[in-house]
Amino acid sequence: MSRYKINNLEEYFKEYKKSVREPKKFWDKIASENFTWYQQWDKVVDFNLAEAEVKWFTEAKVNITKNCIDRHLAKKGDKTAIIFEPNDPAEEAQHISYNDLHLRVSKMANVLKEQGVNKGDRVCIYLPMIPELAVATLACARIGAIHSVVFAGFSASAVATRIKDSECKIVITSDGGYRGNKTIDLKEIIDEALTECDCVKTVLVVKRTNNAVTMKEGRDQWLQPLLDVALENNVAEIMDAEDPLFILYTSGSTGKPKGMVHTTAGYMVYTAYTFKNVFNYEENDVYWCTADIGWITGHSYILYGPLLNGATTVIFEGVPSYPDYSRFWEIIEKHHITQFYTAPTAIRALAKESLDYVQKFPLKSLKVIGSVGEPINEEAWHWYNDHVGDKRCPVVDTWWQTETGGIMISPIPFVTPTKPTYATLPLPGIQPVLMDEKRNEIEENQVVGSLCIKFPWPGIARTIWGDHQRYKDTYFSAFPGKYFTGDGALRDEVGYYRITGRVDDVVIVSGHNLGTAPIEDAINEHPAVAESAIVGFPHDVKGNALYGFVILKETGEQRDRNNLIKEINQQISNQIGPIAKLDKIQFVSGLPKTRSGKIMRRILRKIAEGEFDNFGDITTLLNPEIVEEIKQGKI
Ligand code: WTA
Repeated sequence: MSRYKINNLEEYFKEYKKSVREPKKFWDKIASENFTWYQQWDKVVDFNLAEAEVKWFTEAKVNITKNCIDRHLAKKGDKTAIIFEPNDPAEEAQHISYNDLHLRVSKMANVLKEQGVNKGDRVCIYLPMIPELAVATLACARIGAIHSVVFAGFSASAVATRIKDSECKIVITSDGGYRGNKTIDLKEIIDEALTECDCVKTVLVVKRTNNAVTMKEGRDQWLQPLLDVALENNVAEIMDAEDPLFILYTSGSTGKPKGMVHTTAGYMVYTAYTFKNVFNYEENDVYWCTADIGWITGHSYILYGPLLNGATTVIFEGVPSYPDYSRFWEIIEKHHITQFYTAPTAIRALAKESLDYVQKFPLKSLKVIGSVGEPINEEAWHWYNDHVGDKRCPVVDTWWQTETGGIMISPIPFVTPTKPTYATLPLPGIQPVLMDEKRNEIEENQVVGSLCIKFPWPGIARTIWGDHQRYKDTYFSAFPGKYFTGDGALRDEVGYYRITGRVDDVVIVSGHNLGTAPIEDAINEHPAVAESAIVGFPHDVKGNALYGFVILKETGEQRDRNNLIKEINQQISNQIGPIAKLDKIQFVSGLPKTRSGKIMRRILRKIAEGEFDNFGDITTLLNPEIVEEIKQGKI
């Protein structure tokens, strides 16, 4: 994979300008030089952003797993592709070579085919962070089935919504998963989810914890016996550049989750290119990203980006606090990690603990350290830079989204001078703009605005599964002709970007995007609740936590408030998952609403943050008196 041939900021600006002046030439070169194609493209890009239509490398034919695996076999078949570090440090780590991975993915691909999975079919993968998760995902890509990996922390009802939305034919899960000192009953959650899903005909079950599970006759099968008899050879499916590779759900500000669809060639080119350059990847590096494969970070930068570069990538099953808070640092030392990529919420949690945990380890192998998922606050940035990176390793604060497929704004290590809390500059090929309230592009620096991207890049999601109109409305209607990110940003005097946070009703809690609407829906289903509104408020470790304002029905008024709080959180946990539980609940008699009936969330946000004046213009409120009542209740 080619690297930017740039040594300093001046050269970056030159390269950047070239990529903007001639984007087709720029991407054409990267795509031609670094991958194996069955057939080349006619057009590098074909797009109409006003219509939300984007195609890259049209008519090209490719299989991403040929590029992730087969292509490396001749020269580095014995090289470790995946290091599996189990939850329990006493369990031995596994080193899976590119040859092993080839064999395992081929066999898994053959099992899926025997189970009747064809090109274009959707496969739901609900697994803990174990090698089978990587193998199953890649096996889908090999046969052209569309994988839909669902994070194993989601509840039965949330999994069911996702399975039904994309009509998955098959689910791959396990008897359980380990996380710290807990065991999670994944199969039981799937059993419950499937009571609502008629589309699923087969469930394949990986054995991990030996939990007792119920196997439904005619539907459920243990995976291992099928793998034992599977053929070893599998010819990768020839995929069109624009064939869907996967669906990954992300929360929207309204309604059900959005199944973002990523297609084959553009995603491949973009993740490979960004991985190489943002992490300064070199041949003998050992790279570790602590995300879960159930999120986009795991898809792009545990699996695809690293494997496309023939790298060694770590899959860690556990959590940073088990058996104690030195686990991350111990793993870095054990496997000689060169690049470490984690989230601000993890950094803040670790920074709260004794420094001894991290100082016990020299961490000399590290070269580049990264952050992703939410804005990193100044204190966390310095702690990371001082105690993990030893002021020696550049901190790459990488801004991107499920929708962008790969990193968009980030320092390039050893080139871009870092600045705490700033994601700094766009990667070559990426054209961010800030828009003002009148929807005009802001040219000057030292401004804040809504962050948009004005030219397509290969990794952009192409649609929302089954709902192209929603895709167009969500991303291309606020600022016609541009992709709207949903984030606000500040641009400083030299053009560095600092992401200030979401401008819509999505709250990022511990790095997880949570839409307020689905949580409100869950609360409102409680028989005692009339209406509710959720906002985020700052939290030391989680970044944001959730604050719920709840109006009770008359019948609910009689009930014990503490019990109600417990029940409401249980309801949320059942419908969405424990990550969406509320930190605070305040019972109120009304919510501030505009004359058109919209809840004025900015007022609730201020109150939740403990700020009781400067509410701005509240003359459009139908019920301004309620603001005073809510304030009093909070104080
Ligand atoms: C936020 C995760 C500030 C942002 C890859 C974005 C960030 C949302 C950063 C996408 C960062 C991600 N600085 N904010 N470095 N990285 N975000 O889809 O609000 O899970 O829109 O993708 O996370 O979250 P998602």
